[in-house]
Amino acid sequence: MTFLELLFILIIGYYFIYLILWLILDCNVELWYNTYFGLPISSMRGQVVWVTGASSGIGRALVLILAKYGVRLVISARRENLLELLKKDCLEQANGLLSEDDILVMPMDVLNISQHEAYFDRVIKYFGRLDVLVNNAGRSQRASWEEIKVQVDRDLFELDVFSVVNLSRIAVRYFLQLRNVRGHIVTTSSIAGLCPVPFSATYCAAKSAINAYLNSLRLEQSGIDVSIFCPGPIATDFLQEAFTAVPEEMYGKSTKGQKRMSAERCAILFATTIANKLELSWCGLFPVNFLANATRYPGLAKIIFKFMGKSTMNKIREGKL
Ligand SMILES: NC(=O)c1ccc[n+]([C@@H]2O[C@H](COP(=O)([O-])OP(=O)(O)OC[C@H]3O[C@@H](n4cnc5c(N)ncnc54)[C@H](OP(=O)(O)O)[C@@H]3O)[C@@H](O)[C@H]2O)c1
Repeated sequence: MTFLELLFILIIGYYFIYLILWLILDCNVELWYNTYFGLPISSMRGQVVWVTGASSGIGRALVLILAKYGVRLVISARRENLLELLKKDCLEQANGLLSEDDILVMPMDVLNISQHEAYFDRVIKYFGRLDVLVNNAGRSQRASWEEIKVQVDRDLFELDVFSVVNLSRIAVRYFLQLRNVRGHIVTTSSIAGLCPVPFSATYCAAKSAINAYLNSLRLEQSGIDVSIFCPGPIATDFLQEAFTAVPEEMYGKSTKGQKRMSAERCAILFATTIANKLELSWCGLFPVNFLANATRYPGLAKIIFKFMGKSTMNKIREGKL
């Protein structure tokens, strides 16, 4: 066998293995590798992590898994009663690794941007430090492109983009003053921010925008770690409060019975992304993960999405395929 033939076989073999991994894994290859060979979630023990949108869904599941490994927590959302219940569950999960004082319940509407500095100061005053900010609060959308009122575009961007950018800027200014410690900004984006999906134009734009903001931050500030985590369809209640085309309206549907990754599995992958400071990760059940991988190759994505059409894409997204 000549050297060129060997090289050809190695290249084909490499892509073949990748294709198989795309088909069988529920996350990107780098993240999957790190779940086995990267830093364990327990490596974050003792760190202070602030999670917004902690009262339900992905945020709640993430907080529980971090508590299990002794990570000190600030938990924020609007529903204080759910946060108090979550604190109890966290202490149970921690099994002695955390005490009451290690979890700060801080009710907060992230839209209240003028109060962000005050919330941040409260965290620093309480713990004396912050290691990781996880911007997770957010709402999705279901609406036809041409029906969307511009007020919905504004409201969704206010929540999913501007509140995240504002809180992150405060955190970045704080992290930049620290010596010998690297601050970490983490954000829950979406696969919808990596490639457009139908009937969620503002949401796709917002998640793409937040990705762009954070990629710019990473470029400008090499002393800070920036992680973007992009879930596919996850079994949470997020369709209840999803935006529609009309201001103030909520979609009000359940995800029950749909094929979606569990919030618990998503949280393990999310926590692994944070522990290993991965720049970009995504997760989703087949075929979502396969398609998410394909979006990294624009030419391939164009062919696949053209072949599938918007109705198939929508069925996959709604967990009906
Ligand atoms: N589920 C999915 O399929 C999926 C897929 C991709 C990305 N995501 C992203 O994952 C994140 C979490 O969503 P989820 O699926 O876990 O939905 P969820 O269960 O509805 O959680 C949303 C969280 O955001 C909080 N929140 C909403 N508006 C807020 C505000 N104004 N101020 C403070 N907190 C606010 C909610 O708490 P309160 O109501 O108590 O304030 C809740 O804790 C979102 O950023 C979403 O875009 C979800």
